[in-house]
Amino acid sequence: MEQFVIKGGKPLNGAVEIGGAKNAALAIIAAAIMTDNDVKIENLPDVKDVNVMLDAIMDIGAKVERIDRHTVIINGSTIGGFSIDYDYIKKIRASYYLLGALLGKYKKAEVALPGGCAIGARPIDLHLKGFRALGATVDTKYGLVSADAEALIGSHIYMDKVSVGATINIMMTASLAEGKTIIENAAKEPHVVDVANFLNSMGANIRGAGTDVIRVVGVERLHGTEYSVIPDQIEAGTFMCAAAATHGDILIKNVIPKHLEATSAKLMDAGCKIFEYDDAIRVFATDIELQRTSVTTLPYPGFPTDMQPQMAAVLGLAKGTSTVTESIFENRFKYVNELTRMGAQIQVESNIAIITGVEKYAGARVAAPDLRAGAALVVAGLSAEDGVTVVDDIHYILRGYEDFDKKLQKLGADIELVDNERDIRKFILRVS
Ligand code: EPZ
Repeated sequence: MEQFVIKGGKPLNGAVEIGGAKNAALAIIAAAIMTDNDVKIENLPDVKDVNVMLDAIMDIGAKVERIDRHTVIINGSTIGGFSIDYDYIKKIRASYYLLGALLGKYKKAEVALPGGCAIGARPIDLHLKGFRALGATVDTKYGLVSADAEALIGSHIYMDKVSVGATINIMMTASLAEGKTIIENAAKEPHVVDVANFLNSMGANIRGAGTDVIRVVGVERLHGTEYSVIPDQIEAGTFMCAAAATHGDILIKNVIPKHLEATSAKLMDAGCKIFEYDDAIRVFATDIELQRTSVTTLPYPGFPTDMQPQMAAVLGLAKGTSTVTESIFENRFKYVNELTRMGAQIQVESNIAIITGVEKYAGARVAAPDLRAGAALVVAGLSAEDGVTVVDDIHYILRGYEDFDKKLQKLGADIELVDNERDIRKFILRVS
């Protein structure tokens, strides 16, 4: 298995290029099969989850031509299967987007029920409620979800909870339903807007994405398009936290600053200086003493739950007592035990982490419990002056971060991706 090995304590300085948004790309790949024409997608992040999603659509017969590391041409005209193998949903929950895409295009689909994961139970009841409201018969048995419909008819759907996945899935299916669909209490995340823009570029008629009421007027069919995925706000936010934790000065390029407002606001509360440009953001934390603040995760435009672990790692180094309240997922503090082993002082009471800032972290051998928690442990390791940090189970991190070690090395980090104990020992000898 692979590990990141880190000798921290150096301020990260310089510029980093942000890649395409993983969580937009996964839905866009699914939506791309809803037409029989060629769909060219650019700015795809070259991360494991995206490559698994491309495998999943090839597995049911779609053609995928890889133009370069970040560009593919997808053609869904040769799809022959409508059942997504359990293996894919086991690897990435987002395979459930193929339920919405296949149901919309072929009026039938079958996907294995996604299990829970490290951060919570993560049911898909709201997705299924939406499909049923559009006229589909949906059965869940033997660990499978199967949906089929004589016809899909537009409907007025109220989302009991704000759900990114359910909003996107229902929006996809409704694009090819007859008549008008209104989705109330819709998720407003930038990647929801990106998927709506993508579908509209294929001839769909979607209005209001980015607000809590999305209106879809179904069309007969969708056509081909060329589209570029928006930048990944969570990758960008992770580098912003790395600048804060290492008292560095990083220019984060190819971002949409508006998408980062909640993260910028909290880092400014914590004492960092933030400079916004058209498509870049600079985090200046050189010689800044980090200050406590309180964070509560909320649906966009609130503070993103996917930034919660990384922000907690920063606040663990801030003067005073901070609180981090996780209101989206029921179990997103698994990194706390690992961070505590690096010297953090964090007490978790129900869904609130009470963080007493410490002077510094010390390097330790830790394990990534999930994708964003793993990124938070890297951020902590980058700040740890004493000792060396070894992060195990980094396959979680590689699911969502492209060239994470290389991008950090360019900013001055002493980090290596290794896959054996001998190389860990060699790294430790070199930096000692
Ligand atoms: C997406 O997950 C992201 N994943 C998550 O990012 C992100 O944390 C989450 O949105 C919230 O922003 C992808 O886009 C692939 P939700 P999703 O439906 O769509 C409950 C990462 O690190 N819920 O908005 O699954 C759910 O349990 C990942 O990149 C239901 O109860 O999230 C949660 O408590 C982690 N029933 C809340 O809603 C449903 O049918 C929000 O979940 C659906 C969701």
